[in-house]
Amino acid sequence: MKSTHVIDVCEGNLAMMDTASSLRLSELAPRVLQSEIRAMSVACDAMGGVNLAQGVCDTEVPAVVAEGAHKAIRDGLNIYTRLEGILRLRQAIAAQVARTHGIEVDPEREVLITSGATGAFQAACHALLNPGDEVVVFEPFYGYHLGMFKGMRIVPVPVALRYGTWELDLEAVRAAITPRTRAVVVNTPCNPSGKVFTRTELEAIGAIADEFDLFLFTDEIYEHFVYGNAKHVSPMELPGLRERTILMSGFSKTFSVTGWRIGYLIADAKWVGSIGYFHDLTYVCAPAPFQHGVADGVEQLPPSYYTGLARDHQEKRTMLVDALRDAGMTPHVPDGAYYILADASSIEGANAAAKARTLLKETGVGSVAGSAFFRPGGGEDLLRFCFAKKDADLVDACRRLRGRTR
Ligand SMILES: Cc1ncc(COP(=O)(O)O)c(C=O)c1O
Repeated sequence: MKSTHVIDVCEGNLAMMDTASSLRLSELAPRVLQSEIRAMSVACDAMGGVNLAQGVCDTEVPAVVAEGAHKAIRDGLNIYTRLEGILRLRQAIAAQVARTHGIEVDPEREVLITSGATGAFQAACHALLNPGDEVVVFEPFYGYHLGMFKGMRIVPVPVALRYGTWELDLEAVRAAITPRTRAVVVNTPCNPSGKVFTRTELEAIGAIADEFDLFLFTDEIYEHFVYGNAKHVSPMELPGLRERTILMSGFSKTFSVTGWRIGYLIADAKWVGSIGYFHDLTYVCAPAPFQHGVADGVEQLPPSYYTGLARDHQEKRTMLVDALRDAGMTPHVPDGAYYILADASSIEGANAAAKARTLLKETGVGSVAGSAFFRPGGGEDLLRFCFAKKDADLVDACRRLRGRTR
C-alpha cells in the first residue's frame, strides 16, 4: 500500500514523502525536521560566512576546566557516575548558589547533574507534567522549551511580553491560566530578547504561581551574562517559592563548553528523585570526565572570572549593537544573555526567514529569523544575532554588516 506523508522540512516549506507501506512517523514526530537555527548555520558554513546564528559560543574554555577534564580522562575517570552526578560537583554548585543567591540546598538530595540544562528540562517535564497539562511560556520564547512540551503532549501557552520593552503583562498571564495550567516557565536572562526579569516581576509571577498552585520552571543558563545595571535574580531565592521552583542551569555558556553537556537542576528533594529517574533513563549520567573538569572550574575560578565574562560580553554587545545601527537594523539592546534582536524591515524578503537568507547572501553573516521565537505571524521583521564569538570573528561580522548594500 502506498501512503503519502506530509512533512514540513523547514518551517514553511512543505514536502511530500511517499512511502511504500504503512510505515510512518509517529503522531508526535516533529513536523519541523531541522530547526531554522541549524538550517541557517548549515547555509552559512557552506558559503564560508560568519555564523552569528547559533548560540555556539566559541570563546576560550578556562584552562582549569579544560585541564581538569584532560586529567580526569588520564586518571581513568571515564565510567558512569552516580545518576545524580559526582558529589564534588554537586557540593561546588550548592556552595556557589549559597554564596551568590543565598539559596541553601542539600547537595546530596536537592542537586542533580544533568546532560545540559536541556537534559534537566526534559527530565523535569517527564517527572512533573502530564499530557494535556498547560504551561505558560513568555513570548518571544526559546524554541526548545516549546518543542519539548509538544513532544510530550504538554500544551505550551505563549503569553506575549510587551513588544520591544519586553515588560511583563500580568493581566495577560492571569488571562492565560486555566484549570489545566500546571506551570510557568521563566527564562532569565532570556534567549532571544535579552530580558532580565526584575525582582518585582519575579515576585509577581511567584504570587500567581502560589495563587494557582503552579510549578515555576526557571531556565537560568545565562545567569552570568548580565549588563549595565541589570542584576540576575533567581526565583528560587524569593521567599515562599522554594518548593515550587525547579531551577535549571549549566556550564555550556559560562565555560564555553556547549558540547560537553554538563548542566544541573536544583529542586526540593521530593521532586529530585523522580526527575533523576527520568534523566537516568535517557542519559544514564552526564559525561564523567567533563563533570570533573567543570567541578575544578566551579571550585577554583574566582568571582572575578564571572564578572570578567560579563564585562567581555558587554563589550561584544556594544560592538554588534553599533554595527547593526550603522547597517540600518535598529537593535533591541539586551540587558542579558548574548543575543540581539534587530529590526530587519529594511531587508528584502517576504518574511524573516527570507530576510535572513538575503542578509547572508549580501554580507555572509548568518542570523536567525525572528519568527523562530514567536507564534506564527510574529517576529517577521526581526533577526537574531549572537555575539558570543571570538573578537576577530565579531569584528569581521561587524565589517561585513556595515558594508551592506542599501
Ligand atoms: C534558554 C536556553 N536554555 C538552554 C540552552 C541549552 O543549554 P544546555 O547546553 O545546557 O543544554 C540554551 C542554548 O542555547 C538556551 O538558550
